[in-house]
This record gives sequence, C-alpha cells and structure tokens, in this order.
Amino acid sequence: MERRDFLLSGVAGSLALATGTVLAQEGRRTPDVIYVPTPQEVVDGMLKLAKVGKNDVVYDLGCGDGRIVVAAARLGARSVGIDIDPIRIREAAENIRVAGVGDRAKLIEGDLFATDISEATVVTLYLLSRLNLKLRPKLLKELRPGTRIVSHAFDMDDWKPQRTESVGSSTIYLWTVPGKKA
Ligand SMILES: C[S@@+](CC[C@H](N)C(=O)[O-])C[C@H]1O[C@@H](n2cnc3c(N)ncnc32)[C@H](O)[C@@H]1O
Repeated sequence: MERRDFLLSGVAGSLALATGTVLAQEGRRTPDVIYVPTPQEVVDGMLKLAKVGKNDVVYDLGCGDGRIVVAAARLGARSVGIDIDPIRIREAAENIRVAGVGDRAKLIEGDLFATDISEATVVTLYLLSRLNLKLRPKLLKELRPGTRIVSHAFDMDDWKPQRTESVGSSTIYLWTVPGKKA
C-alpha cells in the first residue's frame, strides 16, 4: 500500500487536512457489491448493538459515503473506512470534513480483502452473504478475540450470530470473535 496525500480535484488540500490521512492501494478493480447506503437509524442500531465507545477502533469494510465512520467517530471512537471506489472515498472525505471528526476518522481507498484490519475492535459490514462468507477466514485470522462484528442484512451462514435485532425493516447481526481454541 502506498501512503500519499489525498488531494481532491476542486476541494484539494483543505479536505486532506480536515480528514487526516487517506491511504491508497495500487491496482484498482471493480467493487464486489454496489453501493447502497445503510439508513441512519440502522447505522445507529449497529453501533449500539456493538456497544461502540471511545476506546474502540471501528472499521467499516466497504464504507460507502462514510456514514458509519462518521457516526462511530461522533461516539468518540477512532474509525476507519475502506472502500475500493474513489467516488465513495471522496464523498466520505467530505462527510467527515462536514461532521468535523477528521481527528478520529481515517479512510483507505482500496480492496477490503487486501487491507490489514487487525487493529479493529469493531467491524461493520453491509456486503452480501457470499462476501461475508469469503471474508470469514480473514476476520477470524486477523481480528483479536473479543472483537465485535456487526452486519446489516447478511449473516455468516453456519457461524450463528450472538444477537439478531430488527431496526425498522432491516435485520442486524452481532458476532464476537472467539478465542483461538474455539
Ligand atoms: C452496500 S455498500 C455499504 C456502504 C456502507 N458500509 C453503509 O453501510 O452505508 C458496499 C460498499 O462496499 C464497497 N466495496 C465493494 N467491494 C469492495 C472491495 N472489494 N473493497 C472495498 N470496498 C468495496 C462499494 O464500493 C460500496 O461502497
């Protein structure tokens, strides 16, 4: 991964400063799933279900416009959004700037499957069932025991959730990464 200043055409330097560091990976490819935003009440429900607080580091894998990243930072957590689509990263950077949480929120432009997520204490997902399944070995390998995973709409097949909740017409799921023996 290459570390570089993120300069956006039109809004440029002030945005880079306001949103902190954006990391960009080399070699772009198409997104595995299209962008559909999580409704704000569901975002709030996901962070509540994971009991996000100021000691957490929240990673949103496929962060879209950064709404989960912003909401987590507003709760005092450090948050990191990863998205492969530069348009989404640009929107997320602007939303972080507008929310004034650039000191706690970071963006990574790149492939979530190729990004180190080991510092997360909470991971949020709104992908697809098959992507959750593809991601499962990475989650179990990289995340520390006790890390919470919350998914909007899609489960993890035979990895049964610890809790399932309904928010509006959406379903959200919670898992906790087990100890290595389990
Ligand atoms: C359904 S949207 C969810 C957006 C946001 N997490 C939310 O809940 O509002 C999925 C996002 O994943 C991104 N995405 C798809 N494949 C990806 C990949 N391999 N690596 C990183 N981001 C990816 C898409 O660009 C899109 O923004």
